[in-house]
Amino acid sequence: MNSILAAALNSSGVFPFKPFIDQCCAQNAVYARTYDEKIYDARDSPSKHLVIICCMDARIDLFRILGLQPGEVHIIQNGGGRLRDAVRSLVCSQALSHTKEVMIIHHTDCGFTYFSNNKQILASLRVRTGTRTEQLNPSQLSYDEDDPDFMPITDLEQSVRDDLAEYKKNPLLKQDIIVRGFTLWTVMALATIEQQYHTLSGNAKERSMIRQSQFTERLTNIEFIHLTDYDDYRLYKLIHKYGSTQAQTFTVNKWLEEYLQESFETPNRYYPNTVQWCSTTMLAFFIRNTTLSMKNINALLLARLEAYDNSKYICYISVLKEHRQNGLGTKLLNEIIKDAIQAKNSRISLHANTENKSALSLYLKCGMRCMAYIPGYYFGDQTYATQNAFTMTLQIKNIKNSTTVCHSTTAVEISSQEEALYKQQCPQAFTG
Ligand SMILES: CC(C)(COP(=O)(O)OP(=O)(O)OC[C@H]1O[C@@H](n2cnc3c(N)ncnc32)[C@H](O)[C@@H]1OP(=O)(O)O)[C@@H](O)C(=O)NCCC(=O)NCCS
Ligand SMILES: [Zn+2]
Repeated sequence: MNSILAAALNSSGVFPFKPFIDQCCAQNAVYARTYDEKIYDARDSPSKHLVIICCMDARIDLFRILGLQPGEVHIIQNGGGRLRDAVRSLVCSQALSHTKEVMIIHHTDCGFTYFSNNKQILASLRVRTGTRTEQLNPSQLSYDEDDPDFMPITDLEQSVRDDLAEYKKNPLLKQDIIVRGFTLWTVMALATIEQQYHTLSGNAKERSMIRQSQFTERLTNIEFIHLTDYDDYRLYKLIHKYGSTQAQTFTVNKWLEEYLQESFETPNRYYPNTVQWCSTTMLAFFIRNTTLSMKNINALLLARLEAYDNSKYICYISVLKEHRQNGLGTKLLNEIIKDAIQAKNSRISLHANTENKSALSLYLKCGMRCMAYIPGYYFGDQTYATQNAFTMTLQIKNIKNSTTVCHSTTAVEISSQEEALYKQQCPQAFTG
């Protein structure tokens, strides 16, 4: 047995804390009483014939991110979500459960990206207090005795590609099935998932389509993913890619600030560090046939995830003056609503100046309601005569038809009790 592991198992020190395991055991006693055989005793498990290889990172809740149910898939988790560590389990899964699909998922902000090589990892183990350096023999970890490999990740996209290539080379693994690689954007504890790399199966036409619809701007390291067309405009989802240099982050923030100053008509207001602060979901319209660049945005919506209640907060929505009243604002809201439904968010919220009539009428049209009145929220901002705000919110559970939201009054259904509550919490919104 690994001597470090044995030492840990044998240690009999007095713990200065109450082990969390005790709490787990207590929870399990509650769970066992409500155990539902119908859910867990599915005969044909995993019923979706999918295996997911993913990092062990504690923030990644695959069940919620991918909308999975117990019994549907095999999940193999390890540090980094690496294929090589997963092979033993994967071979058995494929032998026993008619695997038809494999997903390999690596993620941003992964602990394995904090080191650029094996030497650094070894050095950090050696300096850790309590490590017995003479027992540090990481060669057990490797397939190559002379070259211990902790598999650090220096390029996230490349590590996914490497694992796809390694899959293809491994004769133990099924080759006539769908194998796809993904990177997961671990922003503020939850994530959106973007397919980045192509499958081993699939035809050339499919591959070229994926390539065409994605483009990365070198100066900003922003990836543009084409979503849809709307009249003369093209709608893109923008992704702040992992591994941006300081210069790229500076440039994207500068161009976002310039856009926000122009669209909000606030040339002297600062909008600092926008991409770090609010980029879980970035949606932008560009005029067809212009150069795709963060310098050429015509309409923009930036939202971030509020992890405490799994909601989306819209930090900014704005359309350049000459492009307003063409339906772009509506379309952006419509799209973030779809995004929130897909991400299983609880609600969408934002703040608006109580005098911003066009924005407020847009939000009402999309089923948002005033939840709170905040006097002085926009202190120092002279855009409107008063600086008070409404907190507007849309409960996702109230959406009855996601395709007609913002277009039909029946798309969002708000109960009379809920309407009464809004009126009570926000009387200012109903007086003028
Ligand atoms: C608010 C804003 C984003 C709306 O964008 P837009 O692309 O012009 O909006 P749309 O064309 O989709 O119009 C949607 C709805 O907004 C409302 N609206 C838009 N312009 C309006 C105006 N001048 N007067 C009254 N209502 C208006 C209407 O309800 C309209 O729906 P309708 O066309 O069915 O009547 C845009 O005016 C803007 O960028 N303003 C400056 C930035 C800002 O204030 N952002 C909001 C911060 S909370
Ligand atoms: Zn990780």
